[in-house]
Amino acid sequence: MGSSIDIRLEMLTGPRAAGGVLPSNGKAFFIETFGCQMNVHDSEKVAGVMLARGYQQVDQPHDADVVFFNTCSIREKAAQKVFSRLGLFRPGESPTKIIGVLGCVAQQEGEEIFERAPWVSLVCGSASYRKLPDLLAQVEVGNRRVMGLDLDVDETFETELTRRDNPFRAYLTIIEGCDKACTYCVVPFTRGPERSRTSASILQEVRQLVDFGYSEIQLLGQTVNSYRDPSPRGMSFAELLVAVAQVPGIRRVRFTTSHPRDFHPEIVQAIEAVPEICNHVHLPVQSGSTRVLAAMQRTYTREQYLEKIALIRAARRPISITSDIIVGFPGETDAEFEETLSLLDVAQYDGGFSFKFSLPIYTPARQMEDSVSEEEKGRRLAVLQEKQRSIQLARNEALVGQTFEVLVDGRSSRVEQWAGRTSCNRVLNFTSPSASSSGAGASLLGQYVQVKVSRAGPNSLVGERVT
Ligand code: SAH
Ligand code: SF4
Ligand code: F3S
Repeated sequence: MGSSIDIRLEMLTGPRAAGGVLPSNGKAFFIETFGCQMNVHDSEKVAGVMLARGYQQVDQPHDADVVFFNTCSIREKAAQKVFSRLGLFRPGESPTKIIGVLGCVAQQEGEEIFERAPWVSLVCGSASYRKLPDLLAQVEVGNRRVMGLDLDVDETFETELTRRDNPFRAYLTIIEGCDKACTYCVVPFTRGPERSRTSASILQEVRQLVDFGYSEIQLLGQTVNSYRDPSPRGMSFAELLVAVAQVPGIRRVRFTTSHPRDFHPEIVQAIEAVPEICNHVHLPVQSGSTRVLAAMQRTYTREQYLEKIALIRAARRPISITSDIIVGFPGETDAEFEETLSLLDVAQYDGGFSFKFSLPIYTPARQMEDSVSEEEKGRRLAVLQEKQRSIQLARNEALVGQTFEVLVDGRSSRVEQWAGRTSCNRVLNFTSPSASSSGAGASLLGQYVQVKVSRAGPNSLVGERVT
């Protein structure tokens, strides 16, 4: 890590952008990303690999010599999107373009992709990205049907070259893959077994990110809190959180996604003790029914989950909690759905995502009967979302009058309007009269400012900057 080329790459986009120049091969690449934050971050690393090879990144596929789709297959619809995108590149329309399919659909469909879209020349899953430079070299000399699909790997994708898109928050994957076996989920099949990075390499990258001007780091993993340091140092996840937070220059550390089974009191204690660790936990429950949770193989009961929630809510520092929920899992009865609704009352989530169960390919759920009708799934989703909306509104309204520190990451087209996030991950839109009166030099982007909340909606807060 830490080569000079890395530094130049980060300088192209980081807060301390200096416009460094890399040697060009005169060619351009385009990458479109679907799916989760881990995919977004993988694309940032793939972009780094391409820039180091002399390619330039472009915003439009028709301007590119190499077009990548980094794909998601969590639900059937996500996978379908990829094939409709590929349809835009039939031979004849762009005969010299190299088309590559990366990510979870690539891993899942493998060679099938070449059958369905013969104009694709590279298919590579995330567990094989270490080999990407070699695979690219084969494609560049004219090979077709180049594949990287090994899943049984113990490697992580630790490229020295990452081209981060977000100038304010740096993603950093600490654990790849997933060893859980939720019956509805494709991730263990598309991302392979769990592999943690060493704490030393993580901390080194964090120090480097501070040098590039980042002060907020988001640690990523499908089950981020299942992290196990493979080095003799043997740091636990909670210890790692503290170590990252203590790197000089770091002001915020986030982490996602936490699995309830591996969510231990030490994590709450770390958040209580170290203000740099953000007071937000994303702890997906999926269902409020112990019977459904068992059918999902989530490895906890409703009661065990609610014990974790009680632990978090009892913390000395308020911690916001968000969740993911699936409605209409095979066999979910009305009464079981009601249990999910009653869990919302108890958990009092500050936000989250909810989905209709969708039959994925290649998971045990494939053998289950998708027994809840689409209409009923739609009804349950609407009821659930309406309930969660009113909970969020009430929780946000309770914050009116309080002052929060936000990291400013957006600016509205309207004058004096800015947006930022609180440590508890709420969006706060605010006015800052003094900043605008001093003109363009007074941009607040990337700064930490204090904002007093004056109004609340279900998904965001409104306020005014205080000094
Ligand atoms: N690793 C994370 C989540 C990964 S996928 C965890 O364990 O919580 C993100 C979310 O997609 C899941 O939390 C789940 O709510 C949803 N999801 C996954 N598979 C799904 C499926 N087959 N149908 C509907 N939603 C699904
Ligand atoms: Fe999928 Fe379950 Fe692993 Fe999350 S914990 S990625 S839902 S198998
Ligand atoms: Fe999708 Fe793969 Fe992420 S299936 S949600 S891109 S791990």
